Amino acid sequence: MRKKIVAGNWKMNKTLQEGVELAKTVNRQVEDTDVVVILCTPFIHLAEVSKAITKDSLFLGAQNCASETSGAFTGEVSVDMIKSTGAEYVIIGHSERRSYYHEDDALLNKKTKLALAAGLTPIFCCGEVLAERQSGKHMQVVKSQIENGLFDLSAEDFGKVVLAYEPVWAIGTGVNATADQAQEMHKAIRDLVSEKYGTRVAENTSILYGGSCKPSNAKELFSNPDVDGGLIGGASLSAADFMGIVSAF
Ligand code: PGA
Repeated sequence: MRKKIVAGNWKMNKTLQEGVELAKTVNRQVEDTDVVVILCTPFIHLAEVSKAITKDSLFLGAQNCASETSGAFTGEVSVDMIKSTGAEYVIIGHSERRSYYHEDDALLNKKTKLALAAGLTPIFCCGEVLAERQSGKHMQVVKSQIENGLFDLSAEDFGKVVLAYEPVWAIGTGVNATADQAQEMHKAIRDLVSEKYGTRVAENTSILYGGSCKPSNAKELFSNPDVDGGLIGGASLSAADFMGIVSAF
């Protein structure tokens, strides 16, 4: 069966020392249950945070990766470099990357394939902006992000990908999608995956919800049959809030 996952996305927060402290606290508090807990830290934190992780259910991830494997790409960080720190996951296509850095479907497709080839698990993000939801285009937008970003993968490779639905209007705004809105979209995503790759792959795909998920709403969101966990931004910066979300399962 598919994994339950709670992944923290620290974004551009925490100095190295603060990040290591946070990771140590989370590591202390994480229990070895069937919930996979992931810390997605800034690149420069990865190697140090990796050393702080001792629990079997706690994993490390990056927030982005380069779209090339190596060479003269000043400032970029490759999938092999990420993997060499001990990280096992990488967020791809977060809405902040899509909007501020103009990362399009073709580029995200390339990054996903590089991540898979390096043995990293992509956490592939999708989600509509407010205007798209208000005009009723949200389903179409998410469908095309997934189709264009992922649907040329083999079933075997697709089976290694974690999906994250993050309505952009809910990210960092304090306004989360309702449990019904989340379930409706997650079910639509699973149906889409099922049409393309079959029910077995669809049933095994973890689909995370992201966008103002916090201890007070996590239980309701995670109780939906098609919501398999969360990608947590702001609330992952406090061990108490983050662990409150983990224990919502
Ligand atoms: P948020 O961010 O939890 O702060 O809304 C979620 C995300 O961007 O992954």
